[in-house]
Amino acid sequence: MTPAQPAEPHPGRPPGAVIELSGVDVELGGTPVLSGVDARLDQRRVAVIGANGSGKSTFTRLLGGLVPPTRGTVRVHGIDVERGRKALRAAVGVVFTNPDAQILMPTVADDVAFSLRGSGLDRAAVVERVAGTLARFGMSELADAPAHQLSGGQKQLLALAAVLIREPALVIADEPTTLLDLGNARRIGGILIDDLDAQLVVVTHDLELAARCDVALRFAEGRLVDAGEPAALIADYRALHA
Ligand SMILES: Nc1ncnc2c1ncn2[C@@H]1O[C@H](COP(=O)(O)OP(=O)(O)O)[C@@H](O)[C@H]1O
Ligand SMILES: [Mg+2]
Repeated sequence: MTPAQPAEPHPGRPPGAVIELSGVDVELGGTPVLSGVDARLDQRRVAVIGANGSGKSTFTRLLGGLVPPTRGTVRVHGIDVERGRKALRAAVGVVFTNPDAQILMPTVADDVAFSLRGSGLDRAAVVERVAGTLARFGMSELADAPAHQLSGGQKQLLALAAVLIREPALVIADEPTTLLDLGNARRIGGILIDDLDAQLVVVTHDLELAARCDVALRFAEGRLVDAGEPAALIADYRALHA
């Protein structure tokens, strides 16, 4: 008898692309913000939902190494978030809700190109990759526009472009579609959900976007209260607020 074959991994998912949290608490300024979080996430697309203030953004900062666990351990693709900061920075790209904090250069093209500093690519390769990325985000015509004068939604697109151009193995996006119009929200949803060659953790209030993920997590009052198949979890969440 042939042994059962393991499920075919997603072509874009790097081997060892697992996020593991064990007994994690996070306190900020002496206040407990996350408590007793245990999870093992090997799915390509992970949705994070829950009420305002439930700890979702803190969870993303924890995975990105921006907030340390007060107790417990967090391993992202084999990297301990406290010990492997440099490796974590290379492996993980974080897109925050507020895009202003992430724009570092005067023009759109320069800002996206800035992400490739230290990549070893020569100038021509950088120019080509920036042009390709801007086209993918529908931003080619804004290449020379002043980044700080973009609309909120355009800034959010730019922030995502500047993260994805580095091709991180894990993309963490905290409410990436909140500022976007329907067309741009669909574009970003398509890129994150369908095209990405990376693991994705997406915090969202857009339950349609969450439903397109492989697993969903729900936080409430700093605890991971539900984890599982998105459709069922979202139905329960809707019922809570019916
Ligand atoms: N630096 C901080 N110091 C103290 N409390 C904080 C800090 N950052 C966040 N919090 C609190 O932690 C809770 C969870 O925040 P957050 O993770 O941003 O939630 P969400 O993203 O789900 O809205 C909130 O009550 C917030 O006020
Ligand atoms: Mg938040």
